Amino acid sequence: MSNQKRRDFLKQAALLGSSVALLPSSAWTMIKDNKLRTAHIGVGGMGAEDLKAISSHPAVEVVALCDVDSNNLAAALKLHPGAKTYADYRKMLKEMSGSIDAVIVSTPDHTHAPASMMAMNMGKPVYCQKPLTHHVTEARAMRKLAADKNLVTQMGIQVHSFYDYKLATFLIRSGIIGKVKTVRAWSPKNWGFDGPEPQGSDAVPANLNWNLWLGTSAERPYKEGVYHPANWRKLLDYGCGTLGDMGVHIFDTPYNALELDVPKTIKNECRKPTGFGFPEHNIVTYSFPGTDYTTKRFKWVWYDGPGAPSMHKDLKLPNGEQLPDQGAMFIGEKGRLLLPHFMQLPKLIVKGAYKNMDAEIAKIEQAENLGAPIRDYDTEGKKHYHQFVDACMGKGACTAPFSYASRLTETILLGVIAGRFPNKTLHWDSANAKFAEAEANQYLDSKYREF
Ligand SMILES: NC(=O)c1ccc[n+]([C@@H]2O[C@H](COP(=O)([O-])OP(=O)(O)OC[C@H]3O[C@@H](n4cnc5c(N)ncnc54)[C@H](O)[C@@H]3O)[C@@H](O)[C@H]2O)c1
Repeated sequence: MSNQKRRDFLKQAALLGSSVALLPSSAWTMIKDNKLRTAHIGVGGMGAEDLKAISSHPAVEVVALCDVDSNNLAAALKLHPGAKTYADYRKMLKEMSGSIDAVIVSTPDHTHAPASMMAMNMGKPVYCQKPLTHHVTEARAMRKLAADKNLVTQMGIQVHSFYDYKLATFLIRSGIIGKVKTVRAWSPKNWGFDGPEPQGSDAVPANLNWNLWLGTSAERPYKEGVYHPANWRKLLDYGCGTLGDMGVHIFDTPYNALELDVPKTIKNECRKPTGFGFPEHNIVTYSFPGTDYTTKRFKWVWYDGPGAPSMHKDLKLPNGEQLPDQGAMFIGEKGRLLLPHFMQLPKLIVKGAYKNMDAEIAKIEQAENLGAPIRDYDTEGKKHYHQFVDACMGKGACTAPFSYASRLTETILLGVIAGRFPNKTLHWDSANAKFAEAEANQYLDSKYREF
């Protein structure tokens, strides 16, 4: 070996040595062949987007596809003809555990934890769609398992990695509106349903494995158009209503920026529960312990459903302007910051007028290596997924790992549970993971069906 070659070799070995020490054990196989072999559970709907975004990373090789709907599976296979296909994720994970490096879970919410936990128990890094889980106990279990196994994880809140949300996070932390007293956030979307559980059953279409779709949830007859696809969101047994759908995205920036933990009290003003679908309108008020970025008492108010939000002086915009369709307003001691959802700059409001913050933005862009705003969803959207792939390959870290995502999800799920007790304030004992109101504790968990 020449001296130069020897020096290069020693330099490489030293670099490898220092990075390897930081890598989770599960990253070893990936580093070896410089490819990340991915398995995807749920490849229709958002799963198709997840597949597209993950596989756009040059290091990714899609080796396995799983879906309970054979039409969705066939469409995904066309794009990745070399992948093995499955209807049952348990079979896929067992058969392919030696040739999969990471797992992407994009199923309805009730299957997030069962599928992710199985993959993580096998030591696989997981990218799981939001909200992380359907139940609070599952969120805590996911967090613990990811930590115990030192796994790379990421929740599918892709806007977390978008320019405007990162900018808003740094602006809030810079104290631009002083300590934050309240955040009000809203979405007029409606994933509610006030009808009764439909009676009877329809023939299960040939392309759908209904037993596998139900998974760990209770046995229930199939009804056309009620559950699969997408409508499961409206129903208690499978989704988390509008709060779980949009709240988890829109609350992410305040939650992250203010370094909130889980709330102390939760109240949901909504209609009486039917036991089947979620309320069409929810006004959820949370109180949190104060943090470095909030006043001693901090309140978060969520409005959803047609016509949301109901007007409040905190939401009044300068010049009589209309509120953006969805978004969040931070109310601080020195002003307000409006964060529209999404791909729009936050706006600073002081004493009823917009205030220019170009200088503050320029400073943050430079200090935090933010880059410039990108208003193209495909380009921005990929960042969060590529961050996961890179982290699996030992490069950088995820910004929405399960340690973070589980707490955000727990907060969201507590608001969902409060919908079972309209207008009643529930008190959350985080240390013991239970409500002071014993009747609410039955909703923290659910019994898994053998399927
Ligand atoms: N991050 C985002 O912007 C975003 C947007 C939309 C949906 N989502 C999330 O993505 C997830 C899926 O939502 P969706 O709207 O695509 O639902 P969907 O019902 O339209 O699609 C779910 C897909 O998973 C498949 N599937 C269902 N159960 C399965 C199982 N047990 N094993 C394998 N495949 C299964 C379905 O056949 C379908 O292809 C949800 O958690 C939702 O919250 C996230």
